[in-house]
Amino acid sequence: MTQYVFDNADTRTKTRFAALAAFDPASHVALTAAGVAPGWTCWEVGGGDGSIGHWLSEQVGVGGSVLVTDIDPRWIPVPDRPGLTVRRHDVVTDELPGGTFDLIHARLVLIHLPDRQAVLDRLISALKPGGRLVVEEFDLRHPLTPRTADPHHVATFDAVHAPLLRLLESRRVGATWAGALPDTFVARGLQDVRVDTTTALWRGGSEEIQLHRANVEQLAEPLAAAGVSPQTLAAFYALLEDPSFAVWSYPLVSVTGTRG
Ligand SMILES: C[S@@+](CC[C@H](N)C(=O)[O-])C[C@H]1O[C@@H](n2cnc3c(N)ncnc32)[C@H](O)[C@@H]1O
Repeated sequence: MTQYVFDNADTRTKTRFAALAAFDPASHVALTAAGVAPGWTCWEVGGGDGSIGHWLSEQVGVGGSVLVTDIDPRWIPVPDRPGLTVRRHDVVTDELPGGTFDLIHARLVLIHLPDRQAVLDRLISALKPGGRLVVEEFDLRHPLTPRTADPHHVATFDAVHAPLLRLLESRRVGATWAGALPDTFVARGLQDVRVDTTTALWRGGSEEIQLHRANVEQLAEPLAAAGVSPQTLAAFYALLEDPSFAVWSYPLVSVTGTRG
């Protein structure tokens, strides 16, 4: 089975999905611009907690269908709408679901897959002619620039966040993937490529900023092995609760293209 650095079996997954839900409105904008409409056949890849899959099923209505897949779908509620199906599926190694789709959407999934280029090809091959592909990823190379009057806050944040990024890159998370994605779509022959980027200011104490805590906690052991001390971690966690601290989110780059 394909390795995923933030395995959904971890209890911190709930916090991660709650934080990522802050980007649902941006994803709705990208998917609406892609033209999602009643009757469409959609595939939501790496569906997480199923929030986007559920929203898609509302858009396509009873005449459409939405397949939500995930390598570990334990956080996706049992489908309560006609045409909405949830399935365990590894997008790297398992056979494609069969049939072709009007729309395929994947948010923050391919960035985690070392074979992301091959997965992109698989997704394109599963589109109908004229079908739309929407891939959304964090640009991890973008500086997060904390907003704070206290210069110590910046050092406290970077003392954990910089090693975290190095660790993710060592695990072959695609730090530069989002930035290259528009050109990658064009190189694959996708047409009408559209790019939107969304960032938000995450304040100390907010639900969204807890994404950093969930990610760091889940990788606490390798971060300790990389030299991040318990004191450094404790100061970082305290900062994430401090309302005088704020930091820009990772920019979510939403890229849409149409199969010719
Ligand atoms: C960072 S989460 C994003 C979840 C959701 N797309 C969102 O944006 O809220 C990544 C998701 O991709 C799933 N995933 C990771 N590797 C996968 C694979 N090889 N095939 C299918 N899903 C995978 C994970 O289980 C997890 O639910």
